[in-house]
Amino acid sequence: EADVKKKLPLVGKKILITAGPTYEAIDPVRFIGNHSSGKMGFDIAESAANLGASVILVSGPTNCKVSNSLIDVIPVVTAEEMYNACFKYYENMDVAIAAAAVADYRPKFVASQKIKKTEDSFKIELEKTKDILESLGANKKNQFLIGFALETENEIENAKRKIQKKNLDLIVLNSLQDKGAGFGKLTNKVTFIDQDFNLQVMELKSKEDVAADILERVVEYFNSKK
Ligand code: CTP
Ligand code: CA
Repeated sequence: EADVKKKLPLVGKKILITAGPTYEAIDPVRFIGNHSSGKMGFDIAESAANLGASVILVSGPTNCKVSNSLIDVIPVVTAEEMYNACFKYYENMDVAIAAAAVADYRPKFVASQKIKKTEDSFKIELEKTKDILESLGANKKNQFLIGFALETENEIENAKRKIQKKNLDLIVLNSLQDKGAGFGKLTNKVTFIDQDFNLQVMELKSKEDVAADILERVVEYFNSKK
């Protein structure tokens, strides 16, 4: 029993994770998307499952695969679908980690037929999507809530603002400053910031190792609750 607790400290815990990009339709054959590979979210899911947690992984379109049977993948396409999938499970979760690169805007009107190239130029009107993480924060009961922040300027200040606005327990600030880090790469340079604005600056490391660091903070949280 004590041995299992040490090796699999998250047995019985339920973790919701979002991953990947979202695709927002323009017409039946085109969409607005982004370069997220999904790897960070999938690595977090594997790390969590390897520690014994049951994982609900809500993912936008990616080529990533899972290998641990403790992970349930819920595939979605749009921000709206991701939002609905998350709230289907959130109430029963102990932890939620938002690693998805959710589209901030979507086309206000989706053309029902393929848009023909008759015009020399045209505009696509966009409207805001729902902020999934902010809604999770607003509806938080006992969940330990972790978000990401991607910033290119005033990193720390902006990340701290996101902690407060979204009612997070921890934010993982992604630095694009570093050439080896970010979208499509295998490595990330991150800084953890908690609710009390304590900073933990991490080295440039593989996304697997960043995932392990995040899960270490989750395990610490459960240990501190006892
Ligand atoms: N996020 C989300 N739903 C959205 C937008 C973002 O759940 N519609 C989550 C992301 O998964 C991430 C966090 O919010 O965990 C921060 O995303 P980021 O793009 O850095 O910040 P935004 O709040 O979208 O603000 P901005 O893009 O203007 O910096
Ligand atoms: Ca955004």
